[in-house]
Amino acid sequence: MASDVVRTREELRAALGDAHPGLVPTMGALHAGHESLIARSASENSPTVVSIFVNPTQFSNRDDLARYPRDLAQDIARAQEAGADLIFAPDLETIYPPGFDTAVDVGDVSERWEGASRPGHFRGVATVVTILLNLVQPARSYFGEKDYQQLQVIRRLHHDLALPGIIVGCPTVRDPDGLALSSRNARLSREDRIRALALPRAIETVVEAAASGETETRLLEAAALSALDLPGVTVDYLALVDGSSLEPLPRLRAGARLLIAADVGGTRLIDNAAIESPGGSQGSSARQLTSSVAK
Ligand code: PAF
Repeated sequence: MASDVVRTREELRAALGDAHPGLVPTMGALHAGHESLIARSASENSPTVVSIFVNPTQFSNRDDLARYPRDLAQDIARAQEAGADLIFAPDLETIYPPGFDTAVDVGDVSERWEGASRPGHFRGVATVVTILLNLVQPARSYFGEKDYQQLQVIRRLHHDLALPGIIVGCPTVRDPDGLALSSRNARLSREDRIRALALPRAIETVVEAAASGETETRLLEAAALSALDLPGVTVDYLALVDGSSLEPLPRLRAGARLLIAADVGGTRLIDNAAIESPGGSQGSSARQLTSSVAK
């Protein structure tokens, strides 16, 4: 079925009626990672709504916003192909009507890591996600684990503000060589695309060291940092953290997550994976990463 495209709050409500759809919020520039979220939603919900809105309030850097790729026709086609029944493509004033003067601030979980490096970013994300969930009233909303801190911020927000439906976190999709898919990858030169593989390699180093029994965070992090020690790669942060609170861990324990942010030739990339010690069950990201870089 060809999906409808709606632009206003009224068109959205008229198209949805009493339905509680699946929702995949996006900022466009759709790639196979988004397609996997849309396909998952389509398999679990009817209808599935994909929102496409480049949210200016979550960009702390004007250049980043100006350079953000926009091709609505192509995004609509990709979303339809992946299984979307309805596209919500609002303009700025539909999301932020004249006089809009509210922001949603999530506490601790939004303050470290990306929050520290990109002031105001999670306030923008939390505000727009609150608006989208209120407008769409979804049964389920789908977010990628690739933006792991964003997912934890949204889980907190969703719980604290009693927002509708449930939040579904979905595994990171990677290229066959292990690089996590991101709309930013398009900005990498050929050489930087190769350098960027240091991120999944750093994760793999930690997965392997943890699997062979190393539990000291300091040593695991040092091993990951050496994998990233390359010309043209500058680490912003690298930390083994608790997978819910995102607080740093002195020793590896169940539910640990490795978070990495690095600048590669001027492009900021993030990646993460669940890290388990022997005996614990390995998280999906680590398992998926191990199989993709083992090829
Ligand atoms: O992950 C994204 O694409 C955005 O942060 C989101 C969740 C659509 C909010 O603008």
